[in-house]
Amino acid sequence: MGAAAAAAAVAVVLVAFLCCGAAQVQQQQRQRQLRFDGRRGEFRVLQVADMHFADGKTTPCEDVLPQQMAACSDLNTTAFIRRVILAEKPDLIVFTGDNIFGFDATDAAASMNAAFAPAVASNIPWAAVLGNHDQESTLSRQGVMKHIVGMKNTLSQVNPTGVHVIDGYGNYNLEVHGVQGSNLVNKSLLNLYFLDSGDYSTVPSIPGYGWIKPSQQLWFQHTSSKLKRSYTNKPHPQKGQAPGLAYFHIPLPEYSSFDSSNFTGEKLEGAISSPTANSGFFTTMVESGDVKAVFTGHDHLNDFCGELTGIHLCYAGGFGYHAYGKAGWSRRARMVVASLEKTDKGSWGGVKSIKTWKRLDDEHLTAIDGQVLWSKSFSRKGM
Ligand SMILES: *[C@@H]1O[C@H](CO)[C@@H](O)[C@H](O)[C@H]1NC(C)=O
Ligand SMILES: *[C@@H]1O[C@H](CO)[C@@H](O)[C@H](O)[C@H]1NC(C)=O
Ligand SMILES: *[C@@H]1O[C@H](CO)[C@@H](O)[C@H](O)[C@H]1NC(C)=O
Repeated sequence: MGAAAAAAAVAVVLVAFLCCGAAQVQQQQRQRQLRFDGRRGEFRVLQVADMHFADGKTTPCEDVLPQQMAACSDLNTTAFIRRVILAEKPDLIVFTGDNIFGFDATDAAASMNAAFAPAVASNIPWAAVLGNHDQESTLSRQGVMKHIVGMKNTLSQVNPTGVHVIDGYGNYNLEVHGVQGSNLVNKSLLNLYFLDSGDYSTVPSIPGYGWIKPSQQLWFQHTSSKLKRSYTNKPHPQKGQAPGLAYFHIPLPEYSSFDSSNFTGEKLEGAISSPTANSGFFTTMVESGDVKAVFTGHDHLNDFCGELTGIHLCYAGGFGYHAYGKAGWSRRARMVVASLEKTDKGSWGGVKSIKTWKRLDDEHLTAIDGQVLWSKSFSRKGM
């Protein structure tokens, strides 16, 4: 996407901060407000899961066909991101953790700079959360998240301001506002939540992966109800709630609720690698009512979406070449597109539908498994 198109997709708001002394000039920080595109009434999100980036061209691929090994490195991951960005022209790129594979990355900062470089260069806003491998190189989880937040074009945040105690690093939300010039220009029509699903349990009696803690769920509940209030507030009060999407790394225990009879996609890994403890975040989201779909990574060979109690639980499938995969089974990415409805007066209204599909890293970037995740007409009660 060119700079002009990116500028059309997002309004660039200049926020001026008066600095410390009289001699100091104003510091300006660019803050980009995400919003729906005024021509198509769409907002497009590209999810990249598990890049597992390490040192670049010296880092070999895993699980590719024997004849592909010699010419394959982290740079294939880079090439795939570039290609999929060009093909899909997303309005936001979301990296759902294990962005770098810490054990093999010599320098965490350099590895992240290289891993996110195609997103930075595209001039498209991007957001990232942490997986369980990001902190295994030269930076702690906090250090990794701080580095990400300092990078160009990112909307990532370490943690929400005004919250005293919250577990993890990289818990934040982004609002996607209505079309510029429409009545809904100042309202969030799509609520995006990003959470740190942790790495490993620190409770000796509970083995396995980490989980989304009560402090994070409290923040989520508070944020969701605040967004609901502003959605229904004057001017231009809307009914119900704007739909939401949640992005994090480790799947919830509820991801094991499906089999091939009730999901779209594949489950090539026997077990779901969720935490062994269920901290209740799924139920928290059901209660809050706005989240319509959850997107994780972590299990590279699972790429399905299944619906439970009105919430789709989706994987993206593995993206990175220095990550375990399956030779002959293409690396992949997930797209989500939210579309606005037209009001009786002919202007853009709230979200009408949310669709998803995946793109394979094959010759034609084949799109597969298109499905509707949510549609306003199917859920009169909620909206
Ligand atoms: C990796 O990239 C190289 C160089 O562009 C290319 O020749 C090779 O086919 C790619 N390998 C895979 C598995 O995509
Ligand atoms: C949106 O907010 C801006 C800035 O506060 C205000 O000037 C404008 O009138 C608002 N527009 C609508 C439609 O609410
Ligand atoms: C999916 O189908 C299986 C039976 O094939 C059933 O046990 C399971 O409860 C279903 N899950 C959902 C979420 O409907």
